[in-house]
Formats: sequence, structure tokens, C-alpha cells
Amino acid sequence: MSNQGKSAPILIGMMGAGKTTLGKLLARRLGFAFVDSDHEIEAQTGVRIRDIFEIEGEATFRAREHKALEQLLGRRNTVLATGGGIVLLPENRALLKAHPPVVYLHAQPQRLWERLHHDRSRPLLQTADPQAKLAQLYAERDPFYRAVASHIFETGEAPLDQLADKVLNALQSGS
Ligand code: S3P
Repeated sequence: MSNQGKSAPILIGMMGAGKTTLGKLLARRLGFAFVDSDHEIEAQTGVRIRDIFEIEGEATFRAREHKALEQLLGRRNTVLATGGGIVLLPENRALLKAHPPVVYLHAQPQRLWERLHHDRSRPLLQTADPQAKLAQLYAERDPFYRAVASHIFETGEAPLDQLADKVLNALQSGS
């Protein structure tokens, strides 16, 4: 697909929704660069996300994430995958809303849990009951994702390349 005149999509959604994997695929198909806000924060700080949470706490991570979002939105021809909590700050929601296309990769909490139950890299899930925590985060955030998204797609049903086709078709047709 030609990227002529296309805006690169921003991917939002819960951890485990597949934003990074799909984002890389979309970038390849569009001939765009790819960047992930978590990877950018890790590259800038030289520290892994879970260590940032442990050492500095979530609020400081959110401030770093906000700064990274501002910087990354300035990159042209770059597909951006964001961390699942990007929608928590109202200023981030305003930024996202102002930069369509914003694609919400939706998945039910049960499906997210199937993908994440062995995960040790997500600090917010290192709790006594990570499955309940995931359901709680989903309930809190789903309305925020929906409020800023220009497009919503279900993940985990069709194979990834078919999902990429659907996203690209929607972006191309402007629907
Ligand atoms: C978080 C999601 C993670 C990462 C951090 C916090 C969240 O990103 O930013 O662990 O609050 O949901 P992914 O969505 O890429 O896993």
C-alpha cells in the first residue's frame, strides 16, 4: 500500500493487546518507521520499565511517558505504539485526540490474561491477583481508549496479517 499522503497510525490499548507486534507489521507495510513509547523511555533512561516503576514509582514513570509521547508525536512517517497506561493523563488523551488516526486494539480481559499470565515484565501485574488487576485496569481504561480512538479493532481473533489488512484498508478508505 502506498503511504502517499497517509498519516502514520498511533496504536493504543491494554498491555498484551499486541500493539508492538501489529505496529511493526503496519510500519513495514506502510514503509514507515516504527517506535514504541516504552522502548523509547528505556533507551532514554537506560533502565527497564519495571525498574523505573520500582525505583521512581508510577507517577514519575507517567511523567516520563508524557514527555516521550510529546516527543514521538513530532516524528513524521512513524507508526507509534504506546504503553497501556498512556490514556491515564488527561493531557495525553488531548494529545492523542488531536493526532488521528488513533487505533484502539481491543481485547477482552480474559484474552489479555491468556497472553500475559506468564509475564514478569509488567510491573502493574506483579500483585497477589494479577488477573483481577488486569480486569480492573481494563474496566478503568476501556472508556478512555474509546474516547480518543478514531478506529477500534478486535485483536486475537483473525491472524495478525489479516488484522493488519483490515487496519490498512480502514486507514486508506478514511473510514
Ligand atoms: C503499562 C503498560 C506497559 C508499560 C508499563 C505500564 C500500563 O506497556 O508502559 O508496564 O499501565 O498498562 P504495554 O502496554 O506496552 O505493555
